[in-house]
Amino acid sequence: MMKKIIILLLVIPPLLLAAIFGYVLYNGPRMTVQHHFREFQKEMPPRVVGTVTVRRPDPSAAESAALKNPLPSSIVNLNRGKVYYQYYCVFCHGDTGAGNGPVGQSYIPVPADLRTEKITRYGDGDLLRSMLTGVGHEPVLERVVPQEHRWYLVLFVRSLPQAR
Ligand code: HEC
Repeated sequence: MMKKIIILLLVIPPLLLAAIFGYVLYNGPRMTVQHHFREFQKEMPPRVVGTVTVRRPDPSAAESAALKNPLPSSIVNLNRGKVYYQYYCVFCHGDTGAGNGPVGQSYIPVPADLRTEKITRYGDGDLLRSMLTGVGHEPVLERVVPQEHRWYLVLFVRSLPQAR
């Protein structure tokens, strides 16, 4: 009888610890705070009918200074930019662009606050450039964000300071 109790006392605590460890592993704080990938996958707007995807070479630093965003700042375009932002950027830069996304918090330096003057002063092309290849973006987002999503992102990042 005594032996059984001692064995139980030895077996139960490790089992309990293992259960708690497993629970935290699967439901840990990071994973629940983080925006869920598939949610935004579903929201991705389809490509406009009649258009094809073309990969042009990315602009060089000198070229990008002269670039202007070809998209008009309409509600539809902004909303589309928001979907892309939530797909590519939100987990680092946060909902409001404050740089407080859950993944970004483990970065040194932490992601930039996208509403600061430094960023709002960039021309369209420079914003595009810093967003694609800027500091803190490794692997470079140039390889991640396709051409046809980029100007929507620039448009949306520009709207962040007003949403403050
Ligand atoms: C993996 C995390 C991460 C992701 C994803 C990310 N960023 Fe960043 N971003 C950073 C970090 C880190 C910095 C650097 C902050 C610094 O240098 O102080 C930064 C800096 C920037 C800057 C400022 C660059 C400069 O010249 O100062 C811009 C603009 C920016 N990000 C836009 C974006 C946009 C738009 C997206 C989505 C397409 C994006 N970022 C996705 C982490 C991220």
